[in-house]
Amino acid sequence: MTAAADPQDATVEGCPRHVAIIMDGNGRWATQRGRPRLFGHHAGAKRVREIVEACPDFGVKYLTIFAFSTENWKRTQVEVAGLMTLFRRYISKEMRHLRERGVRVRFIGDRVRLDDKLIKLMNELEEATAHNDHVNLTIALNYGGRDEVARATQRLAQDVAEGRLNPDNVDEETLPKYLDTYVLPDPDLVIRTSGEARISNFLLWQSAYAEYEFIDTLWPDFTRAEFGALCASYGGRERRFGAVKA
Ligand code: FPP
Repeated sequence: MTAAADPQDATVEGCPRHVAIIMDGNGRWATQRGRPRLFGHHAGAKRVREIVEACPDFGVKYLTIFAFSTENWKRTQVEVAGLMTLFRRYISKEMRHLRERGVRVRFIGDRVRLDDKLIKLMNELEEATAHNDHVNLTIALNYGGRDEVARATQRLAQDVAEGRLNPDNVDEETLPKYLDTYVLPDPDLVIRTSGEARISNFLLWQSAYAEYEFIDTLWPDFTRAEFGALCASYGGRERRFGAVKA
């Protein structure tokens, strides 16, 4: 097991410590230009570097991005295969840059359906960046919030069955330890691009108290400036976590 999130890893006043992004709108962006959907995904991949690099400037220590959901397998074989190739290329191309920039990369999601070459690259990237802690980038790949909770529950049930866990001790602190995100703090801000106002099975447990921003910009048009503006606007929100203001 990797070490848990460092409690000393202080929040910068007024900034979201953890931002999660549903990068939506690549397909429409490409269609608007008369190009195939994969053209939009390639444009979207270029945006990832800009946003990762912007994180320290806006006090963001953790960035989690939704790259491929458990439901995305329903897309055409051409699109799915193209996305898998894109993920492999992204990892190979960005590995050195991410390592040198102090970015620690983690993957969440179920790896069982992913091909061996991709899994190998994912492991390599995690290992190559394991000692970094400037920015924590988590890439959700074959990820679904319900699937994650089901897999976590399976492991928890196994621990109960084998006597390592007393069912009376299962509470809100116990279950997250079995989630893919167990080393990460909960997201403070969840952004979805492209005008859709839904969360599409992303970080369901973890986002219980997150602030949400649904913006019209299509992901390939999302800029560092817009990211900064959303982080700044987060600083003006009052989070009460169910309590009444003192
Ligand atoms: C949703 O847009 C986007 C995806 C399913 C893929 C997200 C992938 C990237 C941004 C590519 C790069 C990622 C990494 C980590 C290299 P959509 O295709 O559903 O858009 P639409 O709603 O306009 O059709």
